[in-house]
Amino acid sequence: MTEVERGGNDGIMEKKKTRIAFIGGGAMGEAMAKCLLTKKVAGAQDLVVSDVSLVRRELLSREYGVSCLADNREAAKNADLIILAVKPQNLSQVMGEIKGLSPDQLALSIVAGANLATLRRGLNHSCLIRAMPNMPAQIGEGMTVWTATDETEPRQKKLAQIVLSALGKEIYVADEKYLDMATALSASGPAYVFLFIEALIDAGVHIGLPRDVSQTLVIQTILGSTRTVEKTGKHPADLRNAVTSPGGTTTEALLQLEKGRFRSLFLEAVAAAYEKAKRL
Ligand SMILES: NC(=O)c1ccc[n+]([C@@H]2O[C@H](COP(=O)([O-])OP(=O)(O)OC[C@H]3O[C@@H](n4cnc5c(N)ncnc54)[C@H](OP(=O)(O)O)[C@@H]3O)[C@@H](O)[C@H]2O)c1
Repeated sequence: MTEVERGGNDGIMEKKKTRIAFIGGGAMGEAMAKCLLTKKVAGAQDLVVSDVSLVRRELLSREYGVSCLADNREAAKNADLIILAVKPQNLSQVMGEIKGLSPDQLALSIVAGANLATLRRGLNHSCLIRAMPNMPAQIGEGMTVWTATDETEPRQKKLAQIVLSALGKEIYVADEKYLDMATALSASGPAYVFLFIEALIDAGVHIGLPRDVSQTLVIQTILGSTRTVEKTGKHPADLRNAVTSPGGTTTEALLQLEKGRFRSLFLEAVAAAYEKAKRL
């Protein structure tokens, strides 16, 4: 990461390069490291990854040229930013291992269900970011919601924002309660959308379209519709009405979806995920 980038809008210039350590080099750790490198936010020499898996360590150092270690404490030692990217069940062990960070080190967790209080207690550290990215971060099209402790300095928040924006879009929220909501909506969300895509493709096949043609039609329809909502800024209901001619084909399909409680089912599904996220 360059000094200018590191300094950000608050004008703080750092003399040394920013070093980033990933604790856990699985799917998300790899996705984040890849995005940082692809978008040239960081160079391979700025990144270190620690993982219990030798296979993962070998793959990450071969694919990305980053240094990989088996020792979490060693990886965290000289890092400015330590990204916790292990599964929830491994978090407390990892926190015990890297405990004793210096006050100018920033820890950023993407672990589902781990709140700031848990991180503060486990790490005995107060400069903390809790972030909830999602799976499309793997292609730099992620959506990340994040928050920080009061003790986190503006320059550290800026650093977190730069890193998270490499994954796609990021949005900061001051109130941590929105993180559990984001877990249910945007972090679990790709699964809902993938299911929707799958069901629509099957529907096309059911009425006689070749599967590859159906898939092309569905993907572009979803991409185009999403971009239309984004670009026009119109309410989705207005756009839906524009496609629904009186007595036409679309309203026949919408009738079936309404009969199947499509809308209320989504409300209930996301609410169930939210309740689960709060219990994690
Ligand atoms: N995947 C998503 O879409 C997504 C979205 C938002 C947030 N998250 C969060 O991101 C975190 C990571 O998810 P993931 O999908 O990347 O999981 P993952 O693919 O299982 O990656 C975790 C990696 O950490 C390694 N590991 C396990 N114990 C370790 C330890 N003590 N020290 C160092 N490394 C250790 C694992 O090795 P082994 O496999 O050998 O155990 C694995 O390579 C989770 O907490 C999840 O809640 C994930």
